[in-house]
Amino acid sequence: MQIILDELGRLETDAVRQITTAGTLDILEELRVQVLGKKGRLTAILRGLKDLTPDQKRDIGGRANQLKSKLEELIVSRRDELMGAASGPGLIDVTLPGRPLHHGHRHLVTLVMDQIVNIFQRMGFEIADGPDIETDYYNFSALNFPPDHPARDEQDTFYVEGDRLLRTHTSGVQVREFEKRKPPVKIIAPGLVFRNEAVNARAHCVFHQVEGFFVDTNVTFSDLKGVLEAFVYEFFGSGVAMRYRPSFFPFTEPSAEVDIRCFFCGGKGCPICKNEGWLEILGSGMIDPAVLKNVGYDSERVSGYAFGMGVERPAMLRYQVNDIRLLFENDIRFIRQFR
Ligand code: PHE
Repeated sequence: MQIILDELGRLETDAVRQITTAGTLDILEELRVQVLGKKGRLTAILRGLKDLTPDQKRDIGGRANQLKSKLEELIVSRRDELMGAASGPGLIDVTLPGRPLHHGHRHLVTLVMDQIVNIFQRMGFEIADGPDIETDYYNFSALNFPPDHPARDEQDTFYVEGDRLLRTHTSGVQVREFEKRKPPVKIIAPGLVFRNEAVNARAHCVFHQVEGFFVDTNVTFSDLKGVLEAFVYEFFGSGVAMRYRPSFFPFTEPSAEVDIRCFFCGGKGCPICKNEGWLEILGSGMIDPAVLKNVGYDSERVSGYAFGMGVERPAMLRYQVNDIRLLFENDIRFIRQFR
């Protein structure tokens, strides 16, 4: 009996010292198994009680159980200490949800421009582009603008130096591509254009256009109407009404502008359509033979059509943006609304 009590005493001294100084959770767990596990020292002592008298059993059993509880408590508190140290700075909780990465996205204007270009690509148009800084020749002369045409006035055109200017439309890309290719030429050309205009809610000095043109044998005005109608119904929806209005451009003859029925008022007249009931969306026409001659094409043999449209206005109509300046200010709170 005394042997068992001595054994309990030694076990207590050893175990308390080892547990309270255990350096890691693994060591602590090893100690727990060595003392309290099925084959542990304390378990062995408790098993040995069966050979004792009932009184001895009660006495030693009581002490052994007390020791068991004491050691269990010590293990728990040492475990807490070790875990508290482990969760300090520098440790990563892999169960936390990740921080979302910030994704960039295309600007509203680019989105709409890509939509427009994509519709024409599906109709067989190739993409091309030209320089933002253009010469007088490509922007005006080759397009049949007479030398005294008002569009050349500095009030409309930003001149850079000499005969260089910021292009006022994307039509110069027609001339550049015709010079490089032989008919058939079927191209869609998106890009930036610049006009010396006062900036307000409806007009800006910088905006985007998409130019389209097709030259081949036997290209007719009906072909032009076919692609424009396909485009309008695809982009604005098949329910929209459209009309052609006679117009004038130096580089097309005949020329027509395309309007769509105002979808804000349904044609009754409202501030958006300036009480017209119609919204102008593009200029177009059959390419003037003078332009074809300027690029060395045989205007007796080939003919073509061209059209050009702004991007900002349709973008504003479709996404109900009421001030064009919002498209250029790059306020992230605005931009993020259109993905
Ligand atoms: N370039 C003309 C403009 O900026 C639009 C246009 C393009 C008209 C092609 C006819 C043909 O207003």
